[in-house]
Amino acid sequence: MRTENRTGDAVPLDPADYRVVERTVLVVGAGAAGAQTAIELVEQGIDPEEILVIGKQEYGDAHTKWARGGINGALGTHDPEDDWSIHAADTLREGGYLNDPEKVETVAKRMPALLRELDDWGMPFSRTNQGEIDQRYFGAQSFRRTAFAGDHTGESLLDTLVERARDLDVPYHENVFVSRLVTERGRTLGAAGHDMETGEFVVFDADVVVLAAGGYASLYRRHSSRDDENTGDGPALAYEAGAELMDVEFVQFHPTGMVGDRYGDEWDGRLVTEAVRGEGGRLYNVDGERFMERYSPDQMELDARDVVARAIAREIAEGRGTENGGVYLDISHRSRSFIEERLPRMYERFSDLGVDMAEEPVEVAPTAHYGMGGVTVDSVGQTRIDGLYAIGETMAGVHGANRLGGNSLAETVAFGQVTGRAIAARLATESIGGDSDVLYDRAERHFADLAMLADSNGTHDPRTVLDEVRELLWSRAGIIRDEEGLASGLAELDRIRGRANDLAVGGPTSRSFEFALDLGLALVVAEAVLRGARERTESRGAHYRTDYPDVSPDWQRNIVVERDSVGAMRLTTAPIRTPSAVVQDALNAGYELDYHQLE
Ligand code: FUM
Repeated sequence: MRTENRTGDAVPLDPADYRVVERTVLVVGAGAAGAQTAIELVEQGIDPEEILVIGKQEYGDAHTKWARGGINGALGTHDPEDDWSIHAADTLREGGYLNDPEKVETVAKRMPALLRELDDWGMPFSRTNQGEIDQRYFGAQSFRRTAFAGDHTGESLLDTLVERARDLDVPYHENVFVSRLVTERGRTLGAAGHDMETGEFVVFDADVVVLAAGGYASLYRRHSSRDDENTGDGPALAYEAGAELMDVEFVQFHPTGMVGDRYGDEWDGRLVTEAVRGEGGRLYNVDGERFMERYSPDQMELDARDVVARAIAREIAEGRGTENGGVYLDISHRSRSFIEERLPRMYERFSDLGVDMAEEPVEVAPTAHYGMGGVTVDSVGQTRIDGLYAIGETMAGVHGANRLGGNSLAETVAFGQVTGRAIAARLATESIGGDSDVLYDRAERHFADLAMLADSNGTHDPRTVLDEVRELLWSRAGIIRDEEGLASGLAELDRIRGRANDLAVGGPTSRSFEFALDLGLALVVAEAVLRGARERTESRGAHYRTDYPDVSPDWQRNIVVERDSVGAMRLTTAPIRTPSAVVQDALNAGYELDYHQLE
């Protein structure tokens, strides 16, 4: 079969015709986690020519860009009593004590120095009048710990890291879709995929693969990411390669996403940063009532995200929402200059839509924002497959049942450093290559499947079927869950799977081919979410079940998901580890946010 690429050239689609790229370390994903890993590898002495970072978008464009409000680290700029152990304690409490305490400590301990390092690398942090890195309140944190660059912290972080990686000559290939990891007998051999521009098949012959490919929150109808990122590739690729997943049932709904009916479909679910509430923004229902007074009189709008998201969902469900299906978020009691300085992107975006935040409220409703679950990894980010690492939103363990705002960017740079260092140390003393013949053989078999998929002439449009998965997760495994919804969701997923086996695809460079590949990976993660949520007969963190509304001590365990020997999904549970004495002391001290300092 021959097909046309986007420039009109004929492209042979022959499974035996592929490009081979050999590198010691392949980093899949070019957001903050991938970039930081590559930087650390070079700083630890690995030749940049031995590394390749690949991504689906152009360099400098990744989901990290959309992270807005800040990055946590106990600098104590305003609250000198803060320290890393209190950061760790807040993270564990927010995570419903399902986090891995060791990973939490890794992040909390490293962040103060990492923030200073980012500052040295030129990250444009907002500063106090005294010139220190400024820190703002974020939900459920005992102290002002969230450092920020206006409300474009993710964008500024990624720009800083990409510039640093470029200075270090780290190579990057864009437009690459990795659709298979190749492993044998528990060891990584590399990866296989295709060039999305040309349709060309590519084999990556790599001793080490680092999956930094994001999470799965875009598998929900309303989501804060762009449609074509965070669709579950990272966790699904690792699962299919034989790694374990963990905590996948925990999906965070950010309380304040833009409301599509008011601002247009393209904005539906996009983030209205928590920084708006961190800078004093208040939530009102359509009756003008500041309803968080009823749900959380002490922490108000800055209670944990699950608490605020459920409160908003309830206001809307009980008829106290706006006609567009949202509630109001109002910061107009702050001065225009304050809003312009602290929330410049939000101010600009809403101005472009004809809304003046300094004069009037905006309309918001919860949106799927972050998957706490992901790939199970050890203390340096390695999966149970030798040479396969997972970091950032692709990995599990730091956030448990719910994530503190500002901890996702923190995790990317902290684990990027840890993982990069561990890989470099290993490469200095070991040769860890695998058998390339096996790699090529497996890749060719995969390419035969891809060629068939690209040429499928079935009934269903892949994008429509992917949207059905999104609708299903939103309605059956959303903010509020129960047995009936989860069971019927699993039955519906089987029917969707049937349609996914009968697709109409328009060739290897078509968008429909990308959607078909996304769909295959999405189905894995959707099943894990539904089955995990059904299995967990309690409510904890972001997982809320009306039929089991309380936390159950019996569920102080992680749900682990793996593929069994016949390819079916198997769920087991794993015990939780205990925090160190210093973090336990911080937990016992019972620190909590003093909301009223904001007033
Ligand atoms: O609201 C926000 O700015 C989100 C931050 C985060 O999820 O960490």
